[in-house]
Amino acid sequence: MIIRKSRAEIEKMRSAGRIVAQVLAKLSYMVEPGVTTRYLDTEAERMIRDAGAIPTFKGYRGYPASICTSVNDEVVHGIPGERQLREGDIIGIDCGATYQGYVGDSAVTVAVGRVSEEVTRLMDATRRSLYAAIEKCRIGNRLGDVCNAVQAYVEPLGYSIVQNFCGHGIGRAMHEDPQVPNYGEPGKGKALRTGWVLAIEPMVNLGRHDVKILPDGWTVITLDGRPSAHFEHTVAITENGPQILTSFDDAPYDGTAGGVIKSGTQFSRLS
Ligand code: MF3
Ligand code: CO
Repeated sequence: MIIRKSRAEIEKMRSAGRIVAQVLAKLSYMVEPGVTTRYLDTEAERMIRDAGAIPTFKGYRGYPASICTSVNDEVVHGIPGERQLREGDIIGIDCGATYQGYVGDSAVTVAVGRVSEEVTRLMDATRRSLYAAIEKCRIGNRLGDVCNAVQAYVEPLGYSIVQNFCGHGIGRAMHEDPQVPNYGEPGKGKALRTGWVLAIEPMVNLGRHDVKILPDGWTVITLDGRPSAHFEHTVAITENGPQILTSFDDAPYDGTAGGVIKSGTQFSRLS
């Protein structure tokens, strides 16, 4: 069952989302060689709690931290620890905050210092594919249009879509219906309705699509060991088009896929 949100609920979700966006922005500036993923987690938890929110991930199905930190061939759900970031790494940082009972969920992939052209292009394509999907979040479209947008953007570039994990509806719970895969057929699936809020999260591999879960029960890695990128926004579908809720200013989505969008996602190290 897809739970539609009222305008008032969407405003609460915007407040939760703004906290997440601010935390991700600050974390992205802390990313540099030598920093441990645990340090980022500790700072994230402090910032979330200082904002009066709760780290949604912590304790979720036993997950031990407030953010996920997924380095290089780690796709998603990497657990923060003593690993030190190194020049040339990329790190996906995924963060959730619950504020006044509503959840915001967002992720960015950040370069550690200088990274290769090849990996820079992967990150850039993944971020742009997210905006391509957001652009489809309009009344008159179907879920398949949103899902297909990611695939249609990245596959012609030679990248692979991770199929085992997907985006999701979001509200009072982090995971609500519907599931939002990063592939699908245009024109198929449920018609989009106002009040739907979706967490759209492309996970894109430089090599093959196959992934596996490490014995820690969480960390997803690529089978071929090649890098993977992940970006995520919480997006409301309104009569006026898509609204990115995980944003730290109140600028409306301007439709510039991958271009300059005042959404809190354009961090200095991303491109
Ligand atoms: N954005 C991720 C998701 O939607 C983060 C969840 S991590 C978890 O599944 F630890 F909380 F599960
Ligand atoms: Co999510």
